[in-house]
Amino acid sequence: MRRVLVIGIGMGDPAALTLRAVEAINRADVFFFLDKGEAAAELIELREAILRTHRRAPWRSVTAASPKRSAESGYRAGVEAWHAARAEIFARLIDEEIAPDGVGAFLVWGDPMLYDSTLRVLDTARSVTAPGAPPFEVEVVPGICAIQALCAAHAIPLNGIGEPVEVTTGRRVAGATPEAPAFVALLDDGTGLRALIERGWAGRVWWGAYLGTPDEVLLAGPLAEVGEAILARRAEVRARKGWVMDVWLARADV
Ligand SMILES: C[S@@+](CC[C@H](N)C(=O)[O-])C[C@H]1O[C@@H](n2cnc3c(N)ncnc32)[C@H](O)[C@@H]1O
Repeated sequence: MRRVLVIGIGMGDPAALTLRAVEAINRADVFFFLDKGEAAAELIELREAILRTHRRAPWRSVTAASPKRSAESGYRAGVEAWHAARAEIFARLIDEEIAPDGVGAFLVWGDPMLYDSTLRVLDTARSVTAPGAPPFEVEVVPGICAIQALCAAHAIPLNGIGEPVEVTTGRRVAGATPEAPAFVALLDDGTGLRALIERGWAGRVWWGAYLGTPDEVLLAGPLAEVGEAILARRAEVRARKGWVMDVWLARADV
């Protein structure tokens, strides 16, 4: 049976992969990369650096252009259309590049369970593989996610004692402040944090950008004191590199 490995590679630091991820990297016959444009080219390079570090034999990779996400039809419809277009590409890669008993691999940023479409898209891809094509099995290898990297970098626990934590997006925080005493925002273009500052939210925030890479930046403190500094630093590093990936944790109970 054809097998698709979905390997969590953490934040791009070759030293932060699990031993299972290294074993999986050495089992794959072909690696699939999706090129999302210039900003993401560096993320492909980081994946190649991981392969250079851990792969013990030469490897084959296939890069496909990732479809663009349309903002016209609304957020959810736009994401669904984008997933459908990606599923067509995944199905083609699997049909054309994986032998009947072969193994293909996607190297997924962080962990595949967290704000990543690979597993959903692979599920859809099953229904669009070529007629008569053999089925494929999906195997997931977990990786260090942005939330783990953030907490480790600041040497803090994620939750208050016995308290819940909400994992959400910057877009949602911009809409309303989460009710949980602690919340983590991913995918924030700055508007989530800005909204929280403007609402006068009282609590502490821990922020990190480019976690696990040589460009890592960290800031933390009461939001009222460090909020503007975080947004300014974010804008500065984004302008310098052309892209930024950052995440923050907010806790009301400290
Ligand atoms: C599409 S989500 C993918 C999350 C990923 N699957 C994970 O396990 O962390 C991308 C978001 O993850 C966060 N992120 C990913 N890599 C990061 C890094 N190196 N430093 C800070 N945040 C990061 C950012 O919030 C970014 O907008």
